[in-house]
Amino acid sequence: LSDGPLKGKRILVTSGPTHEPIDPVRYIANRSSGAQGTAVARALAALGAHVVFVTGPADVPPPEGVEIIRVETAQQMQDAVGTALPVDAAIFAAAVADWRVSSASERKLKKTKDGLPVLEFAENPDILHGVSQMKTGRPALVVGFAAETNDVIENATAKRLRKGCDWIVANDVSPATGIMGGAENAVTVISEAGTEEWPRMSKDQVAQKLAARIADSITQ
Ligand code: C5P
Repeated sequence: LSDGPLKGKRILVTSGPTHEPIDPVRYIANRSSGAQGTAVARALAALGAHVVFVTGPADVPPPEGVEIIRVETAQQMQDAVGTALPVDAAIFAAAVADWRVSSASERKLKKTKDGLPVLEFAENPDILHGVSQMKTGRPALVVGFAAETNDVIENATAKRLRKGCDWIVANDVSPATGIMGGAENAVTVISEAGTEEWPRMSKDQVAQKLAARIADSITQ
């Protein structure tokens, strides 16, 4: 396996949701099975890359043949990403919670005693933005994902510029598509060169096509 076109390349993949504790037994999170990120990591490893796989608590098991760093919160994910750098390419497939509960309790909140809880939030670090904006040691290729429910291309194009990443892999996750938690995906890949709509295919096929593109981009 280590003999493919990505042999000798070190690639970071973030995947899964993050969990932000409310108290020791409760959390807030984004919906994410981790399926697409896991498939991307597996496809990159199959092309010979050394993959550092930073994963939140996902529904699917992590791939084999990668270096796994398990995290729970966005702040832990940011720390793990910092540890993984420098890399040749970084793929941010995680569904990171935008906010954490700044008023998280160390004890379980009780229904009777405490009444209705009032949660206070703080903004989480934008990991993709931070890596995209690195002045020194930036990965040669930074890829973000954009899960949108409407105006997918317009929103994702703006997101690419705002974050400063090289490519955005955008998909429509509105409930009618069945993409969220499903086995298939229909993505549009947006780069400086333009917009490319891929037909609906399995998440594994999206991952393999994307891994081949990544190999072309960082090995030429
Ligand atoms: O802004 P939004 O969450 O829609 O951006 C999605 C992209 O940004 C994904 O690639 C995701 O992994 C990344 N992201 C991140 N850190 C955050 C929020 C999003 O790396 N705090």
